[in-house]
Amino acid sequence: MLIHTEDITKIYKIGSYVVEALGGVTIDIDKGEYVAITGPSGSGKSTLMHLLGCLDTPTSGKYFLSGTDVTSLTDLELSQLRNKKIGFVFQTFNLLPRITVTKNVELPLLYAGITAKERQKKIESILERVGLGHRKTHRPNELSGGEMQRVAVARALINDPEVVFADEPTGNLDSKTGKEIMSLFNDLAREGNTIILVTHDATVANYAKRQLKMLDGKITEEVLVKTS
Ligand SMILES: Nc1ncnc2c1ncn2[C@@H]1O[C@H](COP(=O)(O)OP(=O)(O)O)[C@@H](O)[C@H]1O
Ligand SMILES: [Mg+2]
Repeated sequence: MLIHTEDITKIYKIGSYVVEALGGVTIDIDKGEYVAITGPSGSGKSTLMHLLGCLDTPTSGKYFLSGTDVTSLTDLELSQLRNKKIGFVFQTFNLLPRITVTKNVELPLLYAGITAKERQKKIESILERVGLGHRKTHRPNELSGGEMQRVAVARALINDPEVVFADEPTGNLDSKTGKEIMSLFNDLAREGNTIILVTHDATVANYAKRQLKMLDGKITEEVLVKTS
């Protein structure tokens, strides 16, 4: 099992104000699955993604990522685990504006200590893969929204992660470009990548093979999508 949680909770305290963002979530996700976490705004989707993506740790409960007990790791160990095993794609792309497409995609490789020659090979191949072979020296503000999201996808994949999380990846794109990005995720899923999509948009969620529906910090329903 790639992802295994047992009754994880997340409680935010702001002064005397307490928010239970997650009220006990138990899930299993296998390598190679294409899963959507859906639900209305405020239901806890992003909080769950942050925990599963090791950007944050649960208030209580257990989380194992490919057998590693994530709750026992230090902050440094968590960031190393993220760099090696996890890729992220966000609604707002989160690219560094002043550096080129190549440099943006290169960052995770630098953190991972990959040699210059190997870095160049990987960057070439991933930029071709996402259809940006002709945009290597452009900066983010010279790209369309769809192209920026492709750079983010390339950056998420560059270290061959065990799982890719995408939080509302089409939220800032027009519907045609959104469809193109979802089609890219479909291809990546077909090639064996594990993808966890987080979205309030039913059309986007329907691309995934399995949907976990959230409400008020809990998973209330699971739907398996039949492939025609
Ligand atoms: N950092 C935070 N501090 C306090 N409350 C938060 C924080 N992040 C999320 N919440 C609250 O937790 C609940 C779930 O939020 P979130 O996970 O962002 O939901 P979703 O992604 O489904 O919209 C909401 O009530 C939200 O206001
Ligand atoms: Mg959210």
